[in-house]
Amino acid sequence: MCGIVGYIGNKDATPILLEGLKRLEYRGYDSAGVAVLTNGKITVEKQPGKISALEQSLAQNALSGKLGIAHTRWATHGVPNQINAHPHTDTTGRIALIHNGIIENYQTIKTKLESNGYKFSTDTDTEALVNLIAEYYQNGSSLEEAVRAALSQVEGTYGIAVISRDEPDTLIAARRGSPLVVGMGDNEYFVASDVSAIINHTKDVTYLDDNEIAIITRDKVTIKTIDNLEVDKKIEKIAFDLDKIEKSGYDHFMLKEIMEQPQTIEDAMRGRLLSEEGTARLGGIRHEMESLLYAPQILLSACGTSWHASLIGEYMLEEFARTPVEVEYASEFRYRDPIIERGAVMFVISQSGETADTLAAMKEAKRKGAKVFGICNVVGSTIARESDAGIYLHAGPEIGVASTKAFTSQVMVLSLLSLLMARMRNLGASKGIDIVNEMKALPKKVEKILQTHELIKEIAKEYHQSQNFLYLGRGYNFPVALEGALKLKEISYIHAEGYPAAEMKHGPIALIDENMPVVFIATKDSTYEKITSNIEEVKARSGRIIAIATEGDEEISKRADHVIYIPPTLEFLTPILTIIPLQLLAYYIAILRGCDVDQPRNLAKSVTVE
Ligand code: AGP
Repeated sequence: MCGIVGYIGNKDATPILLEGLKRLEYRGYDSAGVAVLTNGKITVEKQPGKISALEQSLAQNALSGKLGIAHTRWATHGVPNQINAHPHTDTTGRIALIHNGIIENYQTIKTKLESNGYKFSTDTDTEALVNLIAEYYQNGSSLEEAVRAALSQVEGTYGIAVISRDEPDTLIAARRGSPLVVGMGDNEYFVASDVSAIINHTKDVTYLDDNEIAIITRDKVTIKTIDNLEVDKKIEKIAFDLDKIEKSGYDHFMLKEIMEQPQTIEDAMRGRLLSEEGTARLGGIRHEMESLLYAPQILLSACGTSWHASLIGEYMLEEFARTPVEVEYASEFRYRDPIIERGAVMFVISQSGETADTLAAMKEAKRKGAKVFGICNVVGSTIARESDAGIYLHAGPEIGVASTKAFTSQVMVLSLLSLLMARMRNLGASKGIDIVNEMKALPKKVEKILQTHELIKEIAKEYHQSQNFLYLGRGYNFPVALEGALKLKEISYIHAEGYPAAEMKHGPIALIDENMPVVFIATKDSTYEKITSNIEEVKARSGRIIAIATEGDEEISKRADHVIYIPPTLEFLTPILTIIPLQLLAYYIAILRGCDVDQPRNLAKSVTVE
């Protein structure tokens, strides 16, 4: 989704801003622009399409200056063209603004400003904000005062960066509901919506909280609330290096991230398994363990892939912790007045920790008195900071828009949580020890599955021109079917559906013919016999069958057209293995169709608008 980069210092701003924008490309965008203060004037250059188009136009109209802002836009209000691209300037060109989020009352603001003589030339909500700031930036007001005054009138969400031609030594940034971080360098400062944009320059950062404004001059940063109260913020160190956000020899981030999973699964468990006691230790929720154990109800709320991980979490927690669990789409939760029992605990699960719907669900649950625990990947994200307790995934930055390694880490963390709760309730030590041993064996098993990538590539060749796919699984592997289908549709644009296998006969079976590939997750577990009957039903209707099966199951190859084997494991841990071939299948199919797997059309890595 939209990206923000700002710079103030002694260096030429444009190359720094462009480099930052490129590091944000993965978030998804459809136009890009920069504004630089050059010889007392703000000059704006913007282009629809990729950053390379912006670079080309900058090669012809070089912008040089030591203060600037830059943006990648993911269209919400107005088509993705040059006019609607950010930065936006006020009617007089005195100030320039970049904005992530949505100004909900922009129409009211616009109408009022128009009656005061302001002219509007874009379809964006942002133009209303920049002109509102201009309206307050009169009669001796400073830019800071004008921004604060304007923001007090705004309904909606924003992460903004603003510059003025009359204050060449000031960069203002503010946030409500859309992440922003301020980076401290040597006599230079940066603003970004994501630390990846500035990590090449500094690792010392301060995260803005909602309703905070940063007033950055050439020698210091002051952070205040929008109501003008100074806030003492701590400077934090970014814990990862540049190589973590580079492709390291892989063709795509997605492939790199799929291949990294033996390591990321290991990292999700690192220091958290107690082998002799047969349990797990989760430091981030230790102080809230009692609320969790006595909670009459556990809610899991998330979106997309994280929602699929939550479904697996529901099965695990009900089986092992014996607590009633509800899984809620975060986007639905906030609007449907859900019943939250006294003492309930909600886990919000999110790779980015910034998904707008998930944040809203979190707020709603808090409002209704629930404790909220976060499970997220991005350190310092809003969910990480605003939850009562939490567990990090430690999967490292996930750049590919299609989530892969974060999913397996989420499932891993949920399985650790289930083990921990079960051991505190009714699971005996020897069973706990067996589980710990099996968990420890997972990274090697994932490695083994990844070695089957050539076979998966061959299968992809056979089916990459299909129009539709069906994914079927049961029990713990039903959410894996949903996730496999989501991966395929996200990056290859093939229509794919996931179903619990037994539901097939209630409708989807009508779709089966010789052109329909059906992916069955048919591992040797409690649902195996049932799912083989479903395979027969598809075979009887000439459907093409790709089965994910357990090593040693020779029978299944008599029924399926293709079999991808995975090593055996405990039933509740199978999703961590079964999803791997499905990620690879989606990846290879998308490549064969010539799709941009890392930045699929219309998608954003972190969906920070409602
Ligand atoms: C996954 O491949 C998606 N791109 C998307 O569904 C994602 O999982 C969803 O937007 C939630 O994101 P989050 O985990 O960062 O909250």
